[in-house]
Amino acid sequence: MKHDIIEQRVGLLGVLTAIVISVAGLVEIVPLYFTGQVTQPSAGVQPYPALELEGRDIYLREGCYNCHSQMIRPMRAETERYGHYSMAGESVYDHPFQFGSKRTGPDLARVGERYSDEWHRIHLNNPRDVVPESNMPGFPWLAKTPVDGSLTGRKMRALRVVGVPYTDADIAGAAAAVAGKSEQDALIAYLQHLGLASKQWEH
Ligand code: HEC
Repeated sequence: MKHDIIEQRVGLLGVLTAIVISVAGLVEIVPLYFTGQVTQPSAGVQPYPALELEGRDIYLREGCYNCHSQMIRPMRAETERYGHYSMAGESVYDHPFQFGSKRTGPDLARVGERYSDEWHRIHLNNPRDVVPESNMPGFPWLAKTPVDGSLTGRKMRALRVVGVPYTDADIAGAAAAVAGKSEQDALIAYLQHLGLASKQWEH
């Protein structure tokens, strides 16, 4: 049997396995570089304005992604619950993207405008005040911590290098756009922004 030769030589088996996986990986990944659908923004998707961008950084800092995904799969049970499935073109301005893989809480990809700002304030301070059975931790300090706008413009400039089309005016106005806002304001602005573009694709 010819495959005995491979099965009896673990080094050779390792090398051949690596070759097969590499070829399969290239076949899967390389065509995506040339498909506009995954490299261009989906209809209506805009770069995050300054306040939303700061909110997104707070979302990362606080580890919200450990319990919340932002990736709706194209399956009936998901689209019935959350709305239009996630498109690659929704994440082109996300560096890094926030697909996540753990759903202790619900997916947040379509949470924008589902609740009022006031609901989010109460929920972020103490989730049990609006959802009694919730096991989400509270994040009450966000309401008391001002956004540090000193770096917002520089963050936008860095994102421009990787292809997010911020204008000079966006960058110049960044610090003023977040001045006087709390981290909670920024996080809520971010949450309310999630999935808004997708609303125009629903039928
Ligand atoms: C330990 C896990 C955990 C962490 C960390 C966590 N959440 Fe949650 N979250 C939940 C659970 C569970 C629910 C469902 C119960 C509820 O609504 O409180 C939820 C619900 C939510 C909802 C309502 C979603 C909906 O569609 O009803 C929002 C918005 C939310 N979380 C935002 C956040 C943000 C922002 C952070 C980070 C600051 C965060 N969560 C961190 C577990 C978590």
